[in-house]
Amino acid sequence: MKPVNIGICGLGTVGSGVYNILQRNAKQINSRANAAICVTHVGSRRDNPACDIGETRVSRDIFEVAKDPTIDIVVELIGGTSVAFDLVMMSIKHGKHVVTANKALIAENGAEIFAAAEQQGVIVAFEAAVAGGIPIIKALREGLAGNQINWLAGIINGTSNFILTEMASKGRAFPDVLAEAQAKGYAEADPTFDIEGIDAAHKLAILASVAFSIPLNIESIFVQGITQLEQLDIGYARELGYAIKHLGIARQSGEGVELRVHPTLVPAASLIAGVNDVLNAVMVDADALGSSLYYGRGAGSEPTASSVLADIIDISRVLENPPATWVPALGCPLEVLTAQKMIPVADIETCYYLRFSMLDTPGALSNATKIMADAGISIEAIIQKEQPAGIDYVNVILVTNRLPERCLNAAVSEIEDLSTVQGSVTTLRLEHLDQ
Ligand code: HSE
Repeated sequence: MKPVNIGICGLGTVGSGVYNILQRNAKQINSRANAAICVTHVGSRRDNPACDIGETRVSRDIFEVAKDPTIDIVVELIGGTSVAFDLVMMSIKHGKHVVTANKALIAENGAEIFAAAEQQGVIVAFEAAVAGGIPIIKALREGLAGNQINWLAGIINGTSNFILTEMASKGRAFPDVLAEAQAKGYAEADPTFDIEGIDAAHKLAILASVAFSIPLNIESIFVQGITQLEQLDIGYARELGYAIKHLGIARQSGEGVELRVHPTLVPAASLIAGVNDVLNAVMVDADALGSSLYYGRGAGSEPTASSVLADIIDISRVLENPPATWVPALGCPLEVLTAQKMIPVADIETCYYLRFSMLDTPGALSNATKIMADAGISIEAIIQKEQPAGIDYVNVILVTNRLPERCLNAAVSEIEDLSTVQGSVTTLRLEHLDQ
C-alpha cells in the first residue's frame, strides 16, 4: 500500500479526535483509502492528553508542517482566519493537499484558496466545515449532483440549537444555557459567532455555493441571531403549533437567490422541529429527489473528526489520479460558478409571527387588523391573551400569510404608531418548509 503522510496542525478537540480515530480504525481506513495513512507530523503549541501521539514528530511552529517535504496532506484544525489562511496558502504553495474544518476560512477566503489550489493542482477539502459529522457537502456535490437544488434549510449551529432547546423544554434562561454550551465545548472561542448567527452564516455561504454553483457570498446573507428571542414568544409559538429554530435558509428561484439566517417558527410536527439539543440537520429540496433530511452531530471531537477523515480518505484514494478526475471542491470547476442576483431581504417573502401589547379597549384590535387588511396582509391565526385584573394591556399575537418584508415593515410601523399599542412589535419569520 502506498504511504500517505498526514500533518495535523492544531491538536485540540478535533485534532485529537482525528488522531484517535485513525489509531482505532486504522485497518478499515487504510483498506478504504487503499493507502497506509499515517500522521507523521503534528503542529501544535501544546500537547493534548486526550490523545497519545507517541513518537510522532511535533513542531511548535505549525508552518514547519506546511514546509515538510514528506507530508502529502496538511490538516488545518487551528481555526480563525489569519494564521489559518497563511498556513493553508503556504501548504498549497508547497504542493500539499489540504483538509480543513474551518468554515470561517472557507466562507471568507475560499475564492482565493480554491484558485490557488486549482493552480497548484491540489485538493482543498472541507466536509467538516459544515454541520460537523454530517456528510452534507458530499451529499450535495456528489449524491445530489444530478438534481437542481430548489432550497435548503438547516439547523447548522449546535450551540444555538442547544440554547433554544433548553429554553423551550426547561424554561431555562439564555445566559445560563450559553454558559453550559461553552463549558461543554460546543461554542466557538468567541460565542458571539454562535448566538449572533455568524457561524451559521459562514456555513450557509458554503452550502449555497455548493448547492447552487454560485460563488461564495457571505456579504449577501441576512443574519439575525437568537439573542433577542424572548421566552414568552417560544411559549406563544408552541400554543400556535410551532417550534422556534435557528435556521440558515438558501433558496433559488427565477428571481435570484435568497440567503438568510434567523430564528424561524416551523410547524411543531415537522421533522426539523424535532431536531433538538446540539444536533444539526439540513433539509434539502431537490427537483428529482424531492425533500431529504441530513441529521446528526454538528460539533464535537469525533463527529467532526469523522468528516475530516472522510476527506483524508477521499484524497488518499485519488492522490495519483490527474486533477481533472477529482470531484471539484465546490461541486463544479471554479470557472463554471455563476453569480446570480441576490434577493435583498426586503423583497424576500415569508410568513410572519407578530406580538404586540395593546390597550384592552373597544376597537383597539380592529384598528390594528384594519392596518393589516389595508396593506393586503391576511391574518392566518390570532391569539389575544386575557390579562389579570388591574392590567390594562393585553398581548396580541398574529400569524400572517406570505409577504415581502417591505410590506410587513410598513404595516408594523403603522401599528406601532397606534395610541393603543405600547412599545414595539416583536417580529419573527415563519416557514412551513413545504416543497
Ligand atoms: N460552534 C459550532 C456549533 C461548532 O455550535 O455548531 C461546530 O461548527
